[in-house]
Amino acid sequence: MPSPKSVAFILIFINAVALVTSKSTIEPCSNSDSCNALLAYTLYTDLKVSEVASLFQIDPIALLTANAIDISYPDVENHILPSQLFLRIPITCSCVDGIRKSVSTHYKTRPSDTLSSIADSIYAGLVSADQIKEANSIDDPSVLDVGQNLVVPLPCTCFNGTDNSLPAIYLSYVVKEVDTLAAIAAQYATTITDLMNVNAMGSTAIKAGDILAVSLPACASKFPRYASDFGLIVPNGSYAISASHCVQCSCGPGNLNLYCMPASLAVSCSSMQCRNSNLMLGNVTVQQSSAGCNVTSCSYGGYVNGTIMTTLSTYLQPRCPGPQQFPPLVAPPTTVIRDSTFAPAPAPQSDGSSTSTPKTEVVPATGSFPGLSPASGPVGSISVSFSVNPSATLIIAAVLLLFATTSIPL
Ligand SMILES: *[C@@H]1O[C@H](CO)[C@@H](O)[C@H](O)[C@H]1NC(C)=O
Ligand SMILES: *[C@@H]1O[C@H](CO)[C@@H](O)[C@H](O)[C@H]1NC(C)=O
Ligand SMILES: *[C@@H]1O[C@H](CO)[C@@H](O)[C@H](O)[C@H]1NC(C)=O
Ligand SMILES: *[C@@H]1O[C@H](CO)[C@@H](O)[C@H](O)[C@H]1NC(C)=O
Ligand SMILES: *[C@@H]1O[C@H](CO)[C@@H](O)[C@H](O)[C@H]1NC(C)=O
Repeated sequence: MPSPKSVAFILIFINAVALVTSKSTIEPCSNSDSCNALLAYTLYTDLKVSEVASLFQIDPIALLTANAIDISYPDVENHILPSQLFLRIPITCSCVDGIRKSVSTHYKTRPSDTLSSIADSIYAGLVSADQIKEANSIDDPSVLDVGQNLVVPLPCTCFNGTDNSLPAIYLSYVVKEVDTLAAIAAQYATTITDLMNVNAMGSTAIKAGDILAVSLPACASKFPRYASDFGLIVPNGSYAISASHCVQCSCGPGNLNLYCMPASLAVSCSSMQCRNSNLMLGNVTVQQSSAGCNVTSCSYGGYVNGTIMTTLSTYLQPRCPGPQQFPPLVAPPTTVIRDSTFAPAPAPQSDGSSTSTPKTEVVPATGSFPGLSPASGPVGSISVSFSVNPSATLIIAAVLLLFATTSIPL
């Protein structure tokens, strides 16, 4: 049986003539399954967290956790994010008319909008004016009624949640004038070959406006099909919120096993204790024995009919696991220090035993990194630490800013 990607390739080939206007990866699909996907989005103006979320009709908390932004900040949903900030937008990717796309985003037109300002500026090239025109059967794009509710079809791919048989989530990335395939590969810690395979490309040539599917390593869940968060998949280095804000799950940095625990926001939640045990969701106990390490864990099994499912499991493994690690959280960004398109690949971690490299693309307003640990993290099991002196970080940031503004050849 041909792989989904080669089917995509054949279809693209057949439809090549019809698709010349906007080059993006087409994934044929036949069932109604949807998946989690991401959009690479650059803010066109200063917007509140809640405004960005409503542009895409997503949960503001999901937006924050997908970007590893600390949600314990007071009034974080009204925090103003700076223009040109790069964000990952978590969306649901469905199967529409036989291809993967997301049509759950709607946009209400405002007085000075045109189809191209909506497409190119507000949605940052993730959609074209023609695609909006077509999706809404607009005959005359010069007359947009103010307050018109437009469907904004957005590109996404699932490819079965895998890449080279490993769990992966796909990010739709709009190519910029200055991009090269090698730079995109480096930025997302993937390879040119993988990008070419995923996008069924015949050459490394890319042009501004093309939309590439970039696979990101992720932690997959194994919830039953009837769970409302079935198929939850969390990219390395980030968080997801589930079960009506009761459960937060993280991925990485040490391994790609999804780790879920009670969320810091948890207010009125069903029990998160494992049955016949005093362990809570996320608790792990270890017992060294002659046979190896006896690990008992209480893990999250999905959200079913308003109930948080838990699974108690005990297994023997050769060595005891170290304390749970968490992806570093960043403070809600207030400035963009440089175009994060050029952000280097994540700095290598020594051995995954600790995390000391905060994201460098944002500088918190205060110059410190408060609230680094999830508020309800298991006591003593958080190994996130910052060796970088906050004021040094600011100096580095300022130098980078200087560098970025003076040395980018145009
Ligand atoms: C999809 O992924 C699952 C595991 O996640 C695997 O068992 C299955 O074979 C894959 N299907 C295809 C068509 O690749
Ligand atoms: C996950 O991210 C961490 C930190 O960025 C990195 O060190 C690690 O190699 C990544 N793991 C995978 C499988 O990509
Ligand atoms: C592992 O621990 C569980 C619970 O503490 C216990 O019931 C089980 O007997 C232990 N197994 C071994 C092989 O030590
Ligand atoms: C969820 O609730 C509905 C009705 O309340 C019931 O029909 C269904 O079987 C329940 N599903 C599960 C998995 O318990
Ligand atoms: C179990 O998890 C709860 C909630 O995350 C935490 O408060 C508690 O300290 C954990 N207990 C152990 C023994 O890890």
